Amino acid sequence: MPGEIRHAWPDRLFHWTMAVLTLVLLATAFLPVLGVQFDWVPIHWISGILLTATVIFHLYRILAVHGIASMMPARGDLRAAMGGEPVAEDAKYDLGQKLYHWSVSAVMLVLVVTGLVMLAKIDTPLWRRDPSILSDWDWGVVYALHGAAALLLIFFFILHVYFAFLPEHRRLLAAMALGRRMPPATRNGPQP
Ligand code: HEM
Ligand code: HEM
Repeated sequence: MPGEIRHAWPDRLFHWTMAVLTLVLLATAFLPVLGVQFDWVPIHWISGILLTATVIFHLYRILAVHGIASMMPARGDLRAAMGGEPVAEDAKYDLGQKLYHWSVSAVMLVLVVTGLVMLAKIDTPLWRRDPSILSDWDWGVVYALHGAAALLLIFFFILHVYFAFLPEHRRLLAAMALGRRMPPATRNGPQP
């Protein structure tokens, strides 16, 4: 088949591991709020540490393999988004995808950083809780940031699934799910 593999297997592995962990984290965080009671904290913090590891792996892939250029705003992105000429044929992502990526990255990084700090609030087999590392006020800020970012993530998750299942994005879904090849010219231009 012509074209290149759009996402190499380590990047697909990252995407799907991160997605499953995100769903586990959302479910463990919000099911108890909806009245489903279970011992959610251990599943939550262990998934949180695994999510942190996947994000570090992603950053390694970007630093060592991809570089950052494909995800940066480019000349013509805005014009294309306003209905002008399509983005350059060799561009991997359009403006919407770039905005989505950076918004979700910011939200995820807030969750990871605040989540790691919050580990000091819980007892685990590996360490004892030590809330004295922060004042009550600072703990309030950390918990509020973690909770607000979690709510934002629900919105982004719904948006992402909606776009992933649009008929005109079927090829992008197949590329992420199955490692399909895509000729550059069909990525952002009209679908054949
Ligand atoms: C998709 C990402 C995540 C979501 C949606 C999420 C959501 C939440 C929510 C809604 C809470 C309840 C906060 C409260 O009680 O006010 C919470 C608590 C917590 N989260 Fe997360 N979180 C995520 C990622 C993480 C990560 C990456 C870690 C750790 C590395 C983590 C560790 C914790 C801890 C330790 C608690 C506190 C449990 C307690 O106070 O009993 N979370 N999370
Ligand atoms: C400052 C932090 C980050 C940087 C610099 C960064 C950078 C990038 C870049 C440059 C790409 C495009 C790779 C390519 O050429 O295909 C990419 C793809 C992607 N990023 Fe990030 N990213 C960051 C954080 C995150 C976070 C926190 C998540 C989610 C937890 C995430 C999820 C993804 C996904 C799912 C892809 C598409 C899969 C792929 O083809 O690699 N990124 N990122």
